[in-house]
Amino acid sequence: MKIAINQLLETEQQKFTDALISCIETFSAPDRLKESVLYSIRAGGKRIRPILMKLMCKGLNGDEERIYPAAIALEMVHTYSLIHDDLPAMDDDEFRRGQLTNHKKFDEATAILAGDGLLANSFQLITQAECYSDREKSYIVSMLAQASGLEGMVAGQYLDMQAENREISIAELEQIHRLKTGRLISFAIEVGGFLAKASVVQMQKIKVFGDYVGLIFQIQDDILDVEGDQAITGKQIGSDAVNDKSTYTSLLGLEGAKQHKEQYVSQAMEALRQLELEHSDLARVCQYISERNQ
Ligand code: IPE
Ligand code: IPE
Ligand code: MG
Ligand code: MG
Ligand code: MG
Repeated sequence: MKIAINQLLETEQQKFTDALISCIETFSAPDRLKESVLYSIRAGGKRIRPILMKLMCKGLNGDEERIYPAAIALEMVHTYSLIHDDLPAMDDDEFRRGQLTNHKKFDEATAILAGDGLLANSFQLITQAECYSDREKSYIVSMLAQASGLEGMVAGQYLDMQAENREISIAELEQIHRLKTGRLISFAIEVGGFLAKASVVQMQKIKVFGDYVGLIFQIQDDILDVEGDQAITGKQIGSDAVNDKSTYTSLLGLEGAKQHKEQYVSQAMEALRQLELEHSDLARVCQYISERNQ
């Protein structure tokens, strides 16, 4: 079963990476700026958000091919968030996806602008998608703006910085994680359901599932920052401690964080059971997210 899930992930990662590269290559940006965008895209990444979108759509018997423009746009926003997250003014990191961070390879201004470009053009991709109706385009664009902007990921990143060098409550930490990581992951899962024409009742359960997956994802990210292997994660271990970040491991300890994660995995699986998806590929990817070492 392990081999099968790894194969599924590898196959899907390759497809999304190829689609991302083809898409970026269509933009006629200045050479070095475009090279900097392609540098971060080609470095890989797990493509877990597009995969979640696809599997949610497929699980509800939707046409999974229709997720592509939304999924590629989301991965562009995610990649922009990583390029900016690594900047000296933020986490000041040197490695990402197994190679030098964008600003180390190029320079800070180029990295900032590469991120800006990825964000702006992500919306263009959705509005130009021939496979979506006008109603679908406006729903997806509005959802992506909410998930990534001042009420979503950007807010979470701001609060994450504000929570450095001080003790915060677990409720505050959960809110930061919901925003900085959860919102883009929930977007992936909810759009997968939306494109599969999920009912209102199904959508409620999908939202619950998305919320838990976002939290599980970031708790495991915090755990890997303590006990991961840079050769596998592709980013420096111990970055959170250096920045005196508030994380699940700093608040609850390694074991406490793992227990917390397991509770959320049970809740996520319960939401999937209510969608009759507890034996689906989506359930196996959820388990992978909780156990991943990458
Ligand atoms: C890292 O995301 C940033 C977080 C939100 C925790 P990923 O672990 O999905 O990064 P890539 O895309 O695989 O590099
Ligand atoms: C970053 O969280 C989340 C976003 C980029 C929005 P982290 O700062 O923990 O991510 P990593 O560990 O650098 O990938
Ligand atoms: Mg950060
Ligand atoms: Mg970081
Ligand atoms: Mg981290």
